[in-house]
Amino acid sequence: MERFDLGIIGGGPAGYLAAERAAEGGLKVVVFEKRALGGVCLNEGCIPSKAFLNSAKIFHYAAHGEKYGVTTKGAEIDHAVVVKRKNKVVKILVSGVKQKLKKYEVTVVDAQAKITGGKAGSFTVEAGGETYETDKLLVACGSVPVVPPIPGVEEGLEAGTVLTNREILDLTQAPASLVVIGAGVIGLEMACYFNDIGTEVTVVEMLGKCAGPTDEEISGILQKNLEKRGIRFHLNSKVTAVEGGKVTFETSEGTQSVQADKVLLSIGRRVDTEGLGLDALGVATERGAVVTDERLRTNVHGVWAAGDSNGKSMLAHTAYRESEVAVNDMLGREDRMRYDAIPSVIYTNPEVAGVGHTMATAKAAGLDVEEVTVSMRYSGRYLAEVEGGDGICKLVVDRQKNRLVGVHMIGSYTSEIIYGAGMMIETGMEIEDSKKIVFPHPTVCEVIREALFEV
Ligand code: NAI
Repeated sequence: MERFDLGIIGGGPAGYLAAERAAEGGLKVVVFEKRALGGVCLNEGCIPSKAFLNSAKIFHYAAHGEKYGVTTKGAEIDHAVVVKRKNKVVKILVSGVKQKLKKYEVTVVDAQAKITGGKAGSFTVEAGGETYETDKLLVACGSVPVVPPIPGVEEGLEAGTVLTNREILDLTQAPASLVVIGAGVIGLEMACYFNDIGTEVTVVEMLGKCAGPTDEEISGILQKNLEKRGIRFHLNSKVTAVEGGKVTFETSEGTQSVQADKVLLSIGRRVDTEGLGLDALGVATERGAVVTDERLRTNVHGVWAAGDSNGKSMLAHTAYRESEVAVNDMLGREDRMRYDAIPSVIYTNPEVAGVGHTMATAKAAGLDVEEVTVSMRYSGRYLAEVEGGDGICKLVVDRQKNRLVGVHMIGSYTSEIIYGAGMMIETGMEIEDSKKIVFPHPTVCEVIREALFEV
């Protein structure tokens, strides 16, 4: 039986980064991965969808460049080539992860792992017919799409009419029509891509707004933009049945249905701890998610959980930071996880990015806040580059402490800009100090500076 200092279950962003950091810190590490190193993010999530969306953006501007003085005759997009390029990008990144783990002499076991027992100092894990002994454990098992008990969904998944984020990224032929169930991050990004490349897209969403917890005004602007481009939305519409490509939903006006070639199921994700053997150790879970504290410790000494597995913030960048905090704790270095300045981005066109409180969450948390909203057109570069753009930038300011607690934007480059706002929030910088920061000109990020002077 081979012995390791740390056993990591899952080779996604939380798992592979933890492996690197722990090995750097001198630990002998084994990573168990049942599917593909890189996890959902690299193989069937963040990265592949960005390759898709970039192709869609290029095609959109090629096909609709007249307002910028560009006429391109006969612009076409070949979805099969987009998929091929996506696969190449994924391959490069996954092999990069493999190389890094090799460099750090991390052992990778390509098999499903099951914890069979033990306690801190000597846990046992079975994988691929072998038994491994580890001093510490990190659960980084990720999440899987929620498959609701809606009649017809299981059958649709089996028949290939209903798709999740995994299958939709491997369709080599774009469907003529698509119904997207759930107007969350995955639903909106995929709706945006397929609409841009010519698929007729209808989105059915249970809530009264798209984009989940996003600021309400920004959700509205995003929806308006996507509707202008041809996407149809049914809000306040709960899907009750799927039959082939026919999706039936309940609205306040009664039952309605929409028919399409394919159906994307994007109603959220759930933690994937099934068969992991957490019960063998008595690790506490809540609705399937592993319960962790601010050091990512579980209730069992010697066991940590990072990434989607703890269900706190199902984002790859949260997973990265959580894995660092967990490893620092294992190595006896003081570190704590903070969740109040985690950026979120929706890579639609236009992009949506936000960090910290919205007015709604700030008020619910009892903060004394005010909101400042400016048009993205305050930025010269935005105005020069985005014809007819209606983006906005919102600051949520804590009146008592005179500092930012939230920034929310919709418009070009906002995904790249938002970390600056996150930095102001994370460091607790006062508004007067933020105003002294010099922003490059002309850039879209200058809009934050403009907004700061409106506080
Ligand atoms: P989500 O939680 O973002 O959105 C699901 C939506 O489905 C919600 O708006 C919900 O109201 C709706 N819904 C639920 N049941 C429904 C029903 N029966 N009928 C109609 N609508 C229904 O989930 P999504 O989009 O699947 O994303 C999963 C996870 O992946 C999220 O945690 C997200 O943060 C992450 N992700 C992040 C990305 C990014 O950072 N850009 C990209 C893609 C995914």
